[in-house]
Amino acid sequence: MADRYLSFTGTAPGRFLSRRLGLPQPAVLRRWSPERPALDGPLLHLTAGASDLDLAPVLARTGLKPAEAGAAAAVVLDATGVRDVEALGEVHAALHPAVRSVAASGRVLVLGAPPAADDHHQAAAQQALEGFTRSLGKEIGRGRTVNLVRLTDAHAAESTLRFLLSPKSAYVSGQVIHVGADAPTAPDDWERPLAGRTALVTGGARGIGEAVAETLARDGARVVVLDVPAAEADARRVAERLGGTALALDVTAADAGERIAAALPDGLDALIHNAGITRDRRLVNMPADRWGAVLEVNLASVLRTTDALLAAGALRPGGRIVATASIAGLAGNAGQTNYGASKAGVAGLVRALAPRALAEHGVTVNAVAPGFIETKMTAAVPLFIREAGRRMNSLAQGGLPVDVAETTAWLAHPASGAVNGQVVRVCGQSLLGA
Ligand SMILES: NC(=O)c1ccc[n+]([C@@H]2O[C@H](COP(=O)([O-])OP(=O)(O)OC[C@H]3O[C@@H](n4cnc5c(N)ncnc54)[C@H](O)[C@@H]3O)[C@@H](O)[C@H]2O)c1
Repeated sequence: MADRYLSFTGTAPGRFLSRRLGLPQPAVLRRWSPERPALDGPLLHLTAGASDLDLAPVLARTGLKPAEAGAAAAVVLDATGVRDVEALGEVHAALHPAVRSVAASGRVLVLGAPPAADDHHQAAAQQALEGFTRSLGKEIGRGRTVNLVRLTDAHAAESTLRFLLSPKSAYVSGQVIHVGADAPTAPDDWERPLAGRTALVTGGARGIGEAVAETLARDGARVVVLDVPAAEADARRVAERLGGTALALDVTAADAGERIAAALPDGLDALIHNAGITRDRRLVNMPADRWGAVLEVNLASVLRTTDALLAAGALRPGGRIVATASIAGLAGNAGQTNYGASKAGVAGLVRALAPRALAEHGVTVNAVAPGFIETKMTAAVPLFIREAGRRMNSLAQGGLPVDVAETTAWLAHPASGAVNGQVVRVCGQSLLGA
């Protein structure tokens, strides 16, 4: 399962050889740890066009010191005021001299405005920022990420800016994230934002789900680790380690939602639909049972339990639903018509339900779409396909379960109420479906 090539290119001879052969140069990504929770350096705040954002106080609260010029761990370019092609020149003028000195595993964050329906010059210039961001993400290298956030209110986007300007977003690059203007609920403690909240993680006994449970517990949540009865021992082990509880339940049970609600009489604050399976075959060889099993676990059960829990009022106001899509659902993948269909369905569910769930229940609905993540699921992929999956992204490596977990924790954050209906890829800017 270990990425031996990444370890090899981390050594001096490995680096030398891979360079000489023109092979990918993955950087060892700098991830969050309690000892080193912040990026290693200052933040450079640049502006293109005339901006109305009240950004400085929010950036100050990231804890990163302001950089005057020279080396920075993060560069934020406020391009919300870019309204025409001429102003795009200011994007170039601001970032052209700054990009070279962004530290390894650093961040470039572009802030844009929603494209205006009644101003095609502004819309063109703002859309241009997407192509710019994605292109810079592909060329910047050295473990550095580039993302675009569209926003109108810096305060509503605080949890998002903090996430993208931290080591927690190490494997999120090339993304465009829309943040609304709803007033944020600042947590009492940004270190433990989920204190006093309950989170249920389906498929939490191992892999990405286990990492999600760990990360939400780190953030203060009381976690309920749900998995199939056959994985109960593992679910218990995870739950005990995190001071939570286990729930042995197959999410495809017709009454799974009702049973979850019954197990949580005090309600739930975060529902994380992570359980998922693959049953790969090309369509010509795909029997109905393999098709049905994948659609049932990955999509039908997500719809059913979500509906049941919302109808029962089991999700408290301020609640969060995070479902798990996949880049296979966005790009398509040979041998995965069933899986791709199920994961695209998750994205459809999220986009359609999000506005209604927020209006009627005060609950946000978002999805994470992992790319190639190092788990038992991907360890089972044949060697050459596995190696291609790992390298075919801007960071030239697979992600870790914790990368999906950190993204989930940001979406589950009490201050992320203005992030709704988003499908956020955690894929190192995979070339698939980019
Ligand atoms: N690993 C990747 O690269 C990757 C990429 C894209 C998406 N994903 C998605 O991320 C999620 C987690 O993936 P993973 O790699 O950790 O998988 P995994 O196989 O390691 O773990 C999945 C967990 O879900 C549980 N589960 C399966 N069916 C269930 C059911 N009916 N009821 C309750 N629990 C059930 C399993 O017992 C297991 O503990 C899945 O939805 C998967 O499709 C993974």
